[in-house]
Amino acid sequence: MDFKIALIKGDGIGPEIIDATVPVLEKVGKVYNHKFYFQEVLAGGCSIDKIGVPITDEALDVCRKSDAVMLGAVGGPKWDNLPGDKRPEVALFRLRGGLGLFTNIRPAILYDALRDACPLKPELADKGIDLVIIRELTGGIYFGERGRYIKDNVEVAYDTMPYSVHEIERIGRVAFEIARKRRKKLCSVDKANVLETSRLWRQVMHRLKEEYPDVEYSDMLVDNAAMQLVRAPYQFDVIVTENMFGDILSDEASIITGSIGMLPSASIGSTSFGMYEPIHGSAPDIAGRGIANPLATILSAAMMLRYSFNLEAEAQAVERAVADVLDNGYRTGDIKCENSIVVGTKEMSRLVCENIKKL
Ligand code: IPM
Ligand code: MG
Repeated sequence: MDFKIALIKGDGIGPEIIDATVPVLEKVGKVYNHKFYFQEVLAGGCSIDKIGVPITDEALDVCRKSDAVMLGAVGGPKWDNLPGDKRPEVALFRLRGGLGLFTNIRPAILYDALRDACPLKPELADKGIDLVIIRELTGGIYFGERGRYIKDNVEVAYDTMPYSVHEIERIGRVAFEIARKRRKKLCSVDKANVLETSRLWRQVMHRLKEEYPDVEYSDMLVDNAAMQLVRAPYQFDVIVTENMFGDILSDEASIITGSIGMLPSASIGSTSFGMYEPIHGSAPDIAGRGIANPLATILSAAMMLRYSFNLEAEAQAVERAVADVLDNGYRTGDIKCENSIVVGTKEMSRLVCENIKKL
């Protein structure tokens, strides 16, 4: 089959990790007889530098007309002093919001080979980590009204976190459906002891859980969830939560699996179209040195094969290749441990390609 993929390399390590992922897709295409057509799209700080805005309507349109979008990372210190609505991250929000990608799927898996890189006690790591965070992506405080005003001669800033029943219900349903296909456990994370949005969130989730009696449902306050993730991560199967809580908890979930450089993500809406990106940022401190871990992006490409192209075997072939390369002892610097063979971004990509086989 033929697929059109919009490629957003972005800033910092973005270009390196996307360049490391394209050959992996090409190899999958060769092995399974698919053709991927790539079209580069400018977004983020590089777009600000070149044309003055984080992303243009035309660029958004190219993405919209593709079958899926692969994104590296956007942002960096160079653009940190720009006003909020002109920052590189605006490109992300226009893509997520503008393309209706309200579901963000962030799986956190502790690979056998990476147990040593897990910062938790060995007896905890031994119990395994295999959870997925379903983060609401187009609502809440990221998209709510914000501003500044002067009160009593003092500047005040505010952000708001609105959620409608409709927004909560649609992400809730996705989470219950995903839990149904896994170990059938869903934990909804909120701050219902303080926030009104969380109280509405909980109310809607409780209504939904009646429709999914086969799924074991629980509520957890976000502060407790942050603690439980490091105290007993094996208790989680699927976590569903609002936009900002999901942002924070997914960084925490990534480090307990060894490195933020390992966690992929899929952003989808109500069709098969989706955007796929690692959860880490542009890592300007290591940009251009050829040492960035491309695995989160490569694993994001596997998610694209699964969710947007419905190519399950192909997705598994990529995931298997990544696991094999790790089993063979190869590591980028962020996940290195005793006796591992440290390789750079390009070599890691080559090794993954080499290990892709028809399953
Ligand atoms: C993420 C990132 C982004 C977010 C940043 C870069 C705006 O942290 O995808 O998790 O907060 O959503
Ligand atoms: Mg984040």
